[in-house]
Amino acid sequence: MEINNGDAAKELLEAQAHVWNHTLNYITSMSLKCAVQLSIPEIIYNHTKPITLSELVKALSIPQIRSPYVYRLMRILVHSGFFAIGKIHEHLEEGYVLTPSSRLLLKNSVTNLSPFLLMITDPVIVTPFHFMSALFQEIETIPVEAAHGTSLWNYCAQHPEFNKVFNDAMACDANFVTSVIVKECKTIFEGSQSLLDVGGGTGTVARAISAAFPSMRCTVFDLPHVVSNLKGSENIEFVAGDMFKTIPSADIILLKWIMHDWSDEECVKILKKCREAIPSKDKGGKVIIIDIVIQTENGKYESTESQLCFDILMMVCVTGKERTEIEWEKLFLEAGFTSYKITNALGLRSIIEVFP
Ligand SMILES: C[S@@+](CC[C@H](N)C(=O)[O-])C[C@H]1O[C@@H](n2cnc3c(N)ncnc32)[C@H](O)[C@@H]1O
Repeated sequence: MEINNGDAAKELLEAQAHVWNHTLNYITSMSLKCAVQLSIPEIIYNHTKPITLSELVKALSIPQIRSPYVYRLMRILVHSGFFAIGKIHEHLEEGYVLTPSSRLLLKNSVTNLSPFLLMITDPVIVTPFHFMSALFQEIETIPVEAAHGTSLWNYCAQHPEFNKVFNDAMACDANFVTSVIVKECKTIFEGSQSLLDVGGGTGTVARAISAAFPSMRCTVFDLPHVVSNLKGSENIEFVAGDMFKTIPSADIILLKWIMHDWSDEECVKILKKCREAIPSKDKGGKVIIIDIVIQTENGKYESTESQLCFDILMMVCVTGKERTEIEWEKLFLEAGFTSYKITNALGLRSIIEVFP
């Protein structure tokens, strides 16, 4: 009986810790944002050896009296694995060092993810979550519209400051993804003359592909507020337009992080337009989608939690969703494509080649 009681108390406390951890999770995100805003990863990187608390406070140019704030900020971020404690050998002192995760937040690195962190924790993205429950009651309104009175894309068009935050976030992810694709998955682009990046943002992916395949003509197609002020180069052209109205022709159409923004009906419309814009399969025509393919066995995969969080993000901020392979296949068949091939080379996301 006593053992059972002990078990029950243990279970209760574990459940409480689970609830607390998830209730407070956003505080870790906001603490990480604060560290990025203060450029703490760069300060530690530039120091080249473990940095003590007082050295960090000095480098931050803040009064020593605020040192306890820095200590407490670093304590939670060490706990969550963003920084670690290293020994400074000569003095037997300890100092903060970067971990592989905080290296991904260094602003000058190709794999810098901090613009994405800043976008996701921006009030423009966080506020719609306060309207999430309305989605289950008021059929007409998606949370982003309840919060801002308009769609995410119109909000970006009307607010240049947030438009930059959003486009910078996309560009940093595009940098990250293309650094892998261009090295590991070169063959999917080989032999093609032209590529159209639909919803290609400010052209990060197109620039990387054009550098890797100099003979390929690349076009970045996006809404006017994203591309109108961008200048092309010899191999890269920026074209403003609406993918629901017309999609220019190319051998390959790339849709990176586009389909998850849209409902099934909207995706079928986009895919049908893409199919009209590419040549037949034997002439090299294909659509390349870079997006999440949800792994159905929950919890087994490292990326499952992020994949499911992205799905909720899509539910709150746009009309889209993340999809399982079966859901993807249904869209491809409905839009008239005949086959597809999934390559899992990007961790959270996959590369899906779709053939007419
Ligand atoms: C999630 S972002 C992805 C950007 C880029 N492909 C990337 O992964 O870095 C979606 C993009 O689709 C663009 N977009 C939204 N609606 C569009 C439309 N109707 N026609 C063309 N582009 C659109 C947005 O402006 C934005 O750049």
